[in-house]
Amino acid sequence: MEPKVIVITGASGGIGAALAKQLGKQGHHVVGAARSEEPLRLVMRETAHDAHAVIADVTRRVDVERVRDEAIRTFGRVDVWVNNAGQGMTRRVLELRDEDIDQMISVNLKSALYGMQAIVPHFQERGEGHLVNVSSMLGRVPSAPFRAAYSASKAALNVLTSNLRMDLRATHPKVTVSLVLPGVVSTDFHKNAAFGTPPLPPGVPSQTADEVASAIVSLIESPAAELYTNPPLAGMVRKYFEDVGAFEAAMPSFGQPR
Ligand SMILES: NC(=O)c1ccc[n+]([C@@H]2O[C@H](COP(=O)([O-])OP(=O)(O)OC[C@H]3O[C@@H](n4cnc5c(N)ncnc54)[C@H](OP(=O)(O)O)[C@@H]3O)[C@@H](O)[C@H]2O)c1
Repeated sequence: MEPKVIVITGASGGIGAALAKQLGKQGHHVVGAARSEEPLRLVMRETAHDAHAVIADVTRRVDVERVRDEAIRTFGRVDVWVNNAGQGMTRRVLELRDEDIDQMISVNLKSALYGMQAIVPHFQERGEGHLVNVSSMLGRVPSAPFRAAYSASKAALNVLTSNLRMDLRATHPKVTVSLVLPGVVSTDFHKNAAFGTPPLPPGVPSQTADEVASAIVSLIESPAAELYTNPPLAGMVRKYFEDVGAFEAAMPSFGQPR
């Protein structure tokens, strides 16, 4: 692959850090953004000699615009933008407070909207570019009720992603928009989730950050509308939409209210 300029939000750890390192190894120019300065700088040092760190809080539009501006100032353009930053939350529907919903919408939906609105005009101007939004299987199959507001924020992200793709297809066919749907991934996500995470039952299929990152690298090489990083989960989606009631009835009791 020709070296590309690739921006990754949430690059200080987990999937974003693994993705940065894999892309850096392939010779791409990486701009990583996150709030935690030291971990982010360390990841960028391990990524490539010219990888660039931008300390930013993606819940602030001005920060996201600064990420774009610094990327363009440093490398002259952006080819790929990955909205990866995100956070989980353990709260059931009846427990949700206004501020819980606001937090999930802010960090998982508005952050990505800011990214889309910051970078897509640059892609339109150049006539090409690739936007990648990292969602979650829980945004398509809401199978973990304790993640209610998180799942809702990712479901909304799925919809904005599809709508943007449809807006661009006629006028800017070389501006591509992809949605990534990982299942469970063994990162600090579960620890970082607001209000913690109940222990996962044994046998839940899980991927490593490196496995998810290499699936996203392949997506960058060959853009597609959607990517299930763990392909068998596509079958679970089909089953869910075939009969939602039957799917829910068959779900294990994991995560039921105590
Ligand atoms: N792990 C899973 O099981 C799983 C499954 C499906 C989807 N996902 C999605 O995959 C993405 C990456 O998750 P992960 O597993 O890598 O989680 P993680 O290990 O907790 O990493 C999250 C990253 O997002 C950054 N971040 C969080 N809030 C931010 C903010 N306000 N501003 C800037 N950066 C922020 C964090 O950096 P700082 O804290 O330094 O800011 C960190 O780099 C998320 O969108 C998540 O929803 C994860």
